[in-house]
Amino acid sequence: MLGTMLELQGIRYQPATAASPVLDGVELRLERGALGLVAGRSGCGKTTLLEVICGLAEPTAGAILWEGQPLTGRQRRWLCGLVFQFPERHFLGLSVGQELKLGHRRLSADAVAAVLRQVGLGDLSLQQVPEQLSGGQQRRLALAVQLLRNPHVLLLDEPTAGLDWSVRREIISLLAQLARERAVLVVSHEPDLFAEIVGPSWQLEQGKIRTMR
Ligand SMILES: Nc1ncnc2c1ncn2[C@@H]1O[C@H](COP(=O)(O)OP(=O)(O)O)[C@@H](O)[C@H]1O
Ligand SMILES: [Mg+2]
Repeated sequence: MLGTMLELQGIRYQPATAASPVLDGVELRLERGALGLVAGRSGCGKTTLLEVICGLAEPTAGAILWEGQPLTGRQRRWLCGLVFQFPERHFLGLSVGQELKLGHRRLSADAVAAVLRQVGLGDLSLQQVPEQLSGGQQRRLALAVQLLRNPHVLLLDEPTAGLDWSVRREIISLLAQLARERAVLVVSHEPDLFAEIVGPSWQLEQGKIRTMR
């Protein structure tokens, strides 16, 4: 399909340890500038879907394409940035500055400042300890870590889980902003929260996907 950026074709995922496929014939298309949402109950395969898209897991069958070209796992790891559920649990740096620099051989101060501004942390000191930030600041920092890699596809696993109501709204409007320049795909068991900002939506049920709009 012309103009389609991210495309999943017949994605099946059945690890040797699973009796039935976790993902079963998943089809999905997402454009740059769109914010898509995959909803579904706990255990329906949402996290697995993100892992397959971003190249942490290989599909048993099917293809994942970017601008019409099928991608290898390695290519998908370059293309995608995945923000885990409760990303603050995976912070490794002793400071905000260190957290941002992990995995980068060279990183300019300008790039760091720009990405912090992008997520609304422009005033944050690089010496701050990640564990001491507020819940909302930690989520913003986790987003900044991924944005530094400049992914074309930003994937978020339950981005509002465990946040207060007001902070949820802040994060949701930040995601809408970030989706202007890239493809953003959110998976969540609370789809109503995103109703105001999402474009294409899908429902995942027992590994099968259904287009909602
Ligand atoms: N490597 C695996 N081996 C066996 N079962 C798996 C594996 N990966 C995922 N699953 C199963 O797939 C289902 C979906 O899990 P998950 O993607 O975490 O769902 P969700 O994020 O929607 O809660 C679960 O039942 C899980 O146990
Ligand atoms: Mg999950």
